[in-house]
Parts: sequence; C-alpha cells; structure tokens
Amino acid sequence: MNVTLHGRARHYRTVAYDSELNAVMLVEQRLLPHEFKIVAARDFEQTAAAIRDMVVRGAGAIGATAAYGLAQGASAYAGGGLPGFQKHVERVYQTLKSARPTAVDPVNAMNRVRAAMEPGQTVAERQGLAVAAAEEFAAEDVRDCEAIGRHGAKLIRDGMNVLTHCNAGWLAFVDVGSATAPLYAAQARGKAFHVFCDETRPRSQGATLTAWELAHQKISHQVIADNAAGHLMQRGKIDLVIVGSDRTLGRTGEVANKIGTYTKAVLARRHRIPFYVAIPLSTIDWNLKSGFDIPIEERNEDEVLGAWGVSLAPSRGRGRGSRSGSRVYVRVANPGSRGLNPGFDVTPAGLITGIITPVGIFKPGELWPHRRELT
Ligand code: MRU
Repeated sequence: MNVTLHGRARHYRTVAYDSELNAVMLVEQRLLPHEFKIVAARDFEQTAAAIRDMVVRGAGAIGATAAYGLAQGASAYAGGGLPGFQKHVERVYQTLKSARPTAVDPVNAMNRVRAAMEPGQTVAERQGLAVAAAEEFAAEDVRDCEAIGRHGAKLIRDGMNVLTHCNAGWLAFVDVGSATAPLYAAQARGKAFHVFCDETRPRSQGATLTAWELAHQKISHQVIADNAAGHLMQRGKIDLVIVGSDRTLGRTGEVANKIGTYTKAVLARRHRIPFYVAIPLSTIDWNLKSGFDIPIEERNEDEVLGAWGVSLAPSRGRGRGSRSGSRVYVRVANPGSRGLNPGFDVTPAGLITGIITPVGIFKPGELWPHRRELT
C-alpha cells in the first residue's frame, strides 16, 4: 500500500526480510495512526516478541512474520551437523508458535517453510531453502489478497455502505489485506461507497488502523462505536458486512475473528444484511472439527479497563485541541474493578453468507467439498 508521509507517497509492505541484517522488518503498529515507523526484529526471539506484543498483528502479517522468523532462526545457526540444526529449528518453531494462539496462519506458514527445507542435504542448503520458502509465503500472501479483491469487488455496488470490524487490511497482511481487498479493487474500478469502521475495543484496531488505511487510500469512511452497528442496520444504513478471519475451519465453515464479530453476524442476520468473510488459503484450518476447539487468546485485562491514545494539548480558543504527540494509557474503568478480555470469538457457519477466497466465493459448507482447490 502507498503511505503518504510529508506529502510523498511511498509503497511499503507490512512485513519484509532484510537478508543482510538477517532481520525481520515490521511496521510498528502500536504507534499507528500517530506515528509511522519501521522496526527491525534482529533475532527469532525478538521476532516472537514482536508477534506476542503486537508490534505486528493480523493473521496474514503474523503468518509471514513467523515464516521469516523461522528462516531467520535457521539462518542464525552456526553449528555443524544436521541433527543439531534440526533441534535448533524445532526450538525456533515452538517459540514462534507460542507467541499467539488463535490465528492458524503462523503454523501453516512455518509448516510450509519446514517442509521446503527438507530436501536440503546440508545446513547451508536448508538455510537457503528456508529463506526462499518464507519469501514465497509472503509473495503468495500478496497474490492471495489481490485475488480476494478481484472476487469480492463484485459484491460492492455504487452508493453502498459497508461495515467492517477490526483491521483485516494491508496492515494485517503483507500488503492489500483480506476484508479491505474488495474495497480497494472496487475503488480501482471507479465505484464510490462508504465504509463504517467498527472501533473494535479493546485495542481499537478499527479506529486506529483501518481508519488510517482508508484515509491513506482516500476511501470515504467513518469510525463508529462498537455498539452503533445495530442501530445503523435497523435504520437501513448498512448494506454489506465484510470481515477477516484468524482461523476458518475447513470442515465446518466456522470463523474465528476479532471479538465482536459474532455479535455483528447475529445483527446482520436479524436485518437480512449479507455477511461475508474474506480469507487467504493460509487462514484455513483443515484439522479442527469444532469451533469450540479453537484456542481463544485471553489478553491482559488492562486493555479492557483502559485505553491507549495520544494526549491532546488544549488549543488556544478553538476548543479542538492540537496533538502533543505523547502516547498515553488512561484508566477508564472503576479503580479496583477487574476485567475479562477474550481476544476472539467464533461465528457459526449458519450466519455467514459467503467466504471470499482467492479462488472464488463459497458458502461455508462448500469449503470441505472444494478442499482440493483450496489447499
Ligand atoms: O488481534 P489482532 O489485531 O491480531 O486480530 C486481527 C483480527 O482479528 C482481524 O479482525 C482480522 O480479521 C484477522 S487478520 C486478517
């Protein structure tokens, strides 16, 4: 995506690999929308920490980060023989896997890198194969998102109001995004539409990240409180919902996504509004048999009990304030009260109109019969 900074547009990827530094380069998402900064994770432990601490977040982006992290860890191995190397790679794999539990992309990505390394006869050969496989995973992520855009763009008509939840945009992938791909493709085809970004408490990825992306992309949008969607749907102000997914079960069509997605799907069904989920193939889990088996990340209660933002210095006389630039956490909830913070929920297949994939749009129940096309 093109980011305009100080009047100049430049193309960036959310995740990249610097082979000279053996570093994973990431957009520091915790600073957005107030500051755009690229940071380097210089070893696999730093890469795992970047996933855990949400420097990088979003299913596809953490998938590519894990793929690069595995290649980075493999490349750093300085021992001699293959048995020691394999033990080291297993340690890197487990460290990256445990960073965040709900999204399946990191596991799918690292399994791809591990499998690609196998034909290598020496440590050096396997290191080279790992880097090539990670680069291919990232490139495929971009191609998948572009294809999602081509299929999904036909759902968007001129004048529509589209609701999206959290951020399944280019920041959640290597580039382009999943839920945003149809929007960007429709815009490229000259369609005009409006997007409502759910604020997406507690971390507010809709208000901070999706709104920032849409602003850079010059797409008409407004941030709404998470509780506002029902009211807007009731008044006929939402025509279509498109969200992303952190794990979609190929066997059942259930979708794990950011907490609050399920609520929006229930509301959409109540108001007969089409509810679509956009996913690259790396988000499909073909193994699990029930959405209740998906591990749901429990995050720190501080995210619910307060909020991060930028402090505004009072402006002289105009009453709107100007940005002072300092990022601050403010406690909102009653001091002494405790919080509960599940990061994701699971939407049943019956509430989903269609799943937009790189190979076409499927009903949730059609994923399993089409599994050959979708793997
Ligand atoms: O906790 P995050 O920000 O990593 O969660 C991301 C989401 O749940 C998004 O909604 C998205 O749909 C999945 S990433 C494509």
